[in-house]
Amino acid sequence: MVFNLPKLIGHRGVKDLSPENTLYSINQAIQLNLKWIEIDVKISKDHIPFLLHDDNLDRTTSGSGNPIKYKYKDILKLDAGSWFGSRYKNLYPPTLHEVLNFCSQQNIGVNIELKPNKGFEKENVEAVVKLIKNFNFSCEQYFSSFDWPSVILIKKLLPKSHVGILIESLNKKNDIIKILNKCKKYNFFSCGLNAKFVSIEVVELCKNYGMQITVYSSENFKIIDANNLWNIGVDSIFIGNPLNYRNILK
Ligand code: G3P
Ligand code: MG
Repeated sequence: MVFNLPKLIGHRGVKDLSPENTLYSINQAIQLNLKWIEIDVKISKDHIPFLLHDDNLDRTTSGSGNPIKYKYKDILKLDAGSWFGSRYKNLYPPTLHEVLNFCSQQNIGVNIELKPNKGFEKENVEAVVKLIKNFNFSCEQYFSSFDWPSVILIKKLLPKSHVGILIESLNKKNDIIKILNKCKKYNFFSCGLNAKFVSIEVVELCKNYGMQITVYSSENFKIIDANNLWNIGVDSIFIGNPLNYRNILK
């Protein structure tokens, strides 16, 4: 199945409006009319894929340390909302299973970013693949990662899936050509670029290789910057707060 990504993808739900990577934030993204959301996924000690951005639990939950040390039943007990505001104290880090069920019910596309615990990259992919194969969720999905072995392995295990690489930095023009050749080799469909190095030249090169282009930033995009990116050929922008984008999200 070929799909075209939308102009806006909710970043970790809508991370600037409510606690990232929670069902609450995903639901808020849906209420704001986003049709796709992005989430960060890694595994617990018992290899349950769940949502968390960072390498450790400290910033966004009431837990601490590396999540690979905890069974999901203990991660479920954590408060994943109070860090953002006291009214979110009942939120928890959801499983990927719950999120894909919810997004299937709501007919929302999901970009699953594979964000493995270090040293557990293979186990992370295997757990996600097992879930996808067992449940055959109806929502559209695509996979991405900054970690080449993760995206290469998921494409191998799920050959019909859509897979893209994320790129944090580019030093020379040559780098992007090497990356694009690797994308072609593994039949990836998208490149996710850090806004810091996006230029007309880079976008044109990606387009010449038939890639769909997504752009992310830790800061929310101003509408003027988003328009510039779409005008030069960027397909999708990860957005943490889409409140100024009502014209696009009609
Ligand atoms: O997938 C785009 C974006 O989510 C990558 O950066 O750090 O927010 O996961 P990060
Ligand atoms: Mg992410």
